[in-house]
Amino acid sequence: MDRSIHSSSFIDVSAITGGRRMRRNRKCDWSRRLVQENQLTVNDLIWPIFLIEGENAIQPVKSMPGVERYSIDNAVRAAEKAAKLGIPVVALFPNTPTELRDDEGSEALNSDNLTCRALRAIKKEVPEIGLMTDVALDPYTSHGHDGLLRDGIIVNDETVEQLTRQALVQAEAGSDIIGPSDMMDGRIGAIRQVLDGNGFTDTQIMAYTAKYASAFYGPFREAVGANTTLKGDKKTYQMDAANSDEALYEAELDIAEGADMLMVKPGMPYLDIVRRLKDQFSLPTFAYQVSGEYAMICAAGQNGWLDQDRAMWESLLAFKRAGADGILTYFAPTVAEALNE
Ligand code: PBG
Repeated sequence: MDRSIHSSSFIDVSAITGGRRMRRNRKCDWSRRLVQENQLTVNDLIWPIFLIEGENAIQPVKSMPGVERYSIDNAVRAAEKAAKLGIPVVALFPNTPTELRDDEGSEALNSDNLTCRALRAIKKEVPEIGLMTDVALDPYTSHGHDGLLRDGIIVNDETVEQLTRQALVQAEAGSDIIGPSDMMDGRIGAIRQVLDGNGFTDTQIMAYTAKYASAFYGPFREAVGANTTLKGDKKTYQMDAANSDEALYEAELDIAEGADMLMVKPGMPYLDIVRRLKDQFSLPTFAYQVSGEYAMICAAGQNGWLDQDRAMWESLLAFKRAGADGILTYFAPTVAEALNE
């Protein structure tokens, strides 16, 4: 072994460090594996999938290299693949045809909408995988907002009523985990009440607890076709990037209202929030590595500016280190395949 790192003729490092040498445990692969504190497994992964109408259709999402929108038949195949790889959950996001979008987001309540049909199809063909759905109106509204607009203002209480009906329609179609991503006040409790009242006491709620008004959702909005329609921004309901204590307050309310799991979104720029929520509440806590984070890593990788594969692993491990119990990530199938090898 190369001992040159241990000795110098004029500096006594052992005396400086009191004999402690951090590099001892890092000296070779087996030792690094032995002292590794965190690990990523397939059980940590939730795979977000985009849906489109049609048959045997696949559409690439331009700003998300390697990510595609699937028609329902292909979504079933994707779910089959995910189940085989051991991915516990897929999350469904519809690209609603433009002609079905309106001011009220009424298509969200249609029990035969794209999401509900996909839920039923996957439930039937791949019953072993968990299904998660987003509760928010933005894929269904002509103005691209998550809530209802009245005189230019997103109204809270009326939106919450609409969201409870959206959640119920999804639960009836087979959604296992309802993910309210709208950031309206009181929505977790309202949805819990309506689910319980209709016999869905076992349907879980993963609250988008700390969801920030973020630039990193750009490619997602392209994927669901809400990029050209959104008027203004979402700052009156999504959180301010400057705030951290506020996330604890949000979490306290969501937990009191019945959230089973918490989520922080985006992921990488908000690892401190993941850690604070996990330390404070010990609930299963998830991070969403959002579309813009995915796009950044892929774009830099494609330019040869960084090693995409290594950046992917490092970013996902960082979530585990921050205390996340799991990660929603578009890298899920890639990572799961590698972990299965
Ligand atoms: C809908 C929703 C968004 C995302 C998930 N659910 C977009 C938004 O709030 O504008 C973003 C996910 C991503 O960027 O990967 N409310």
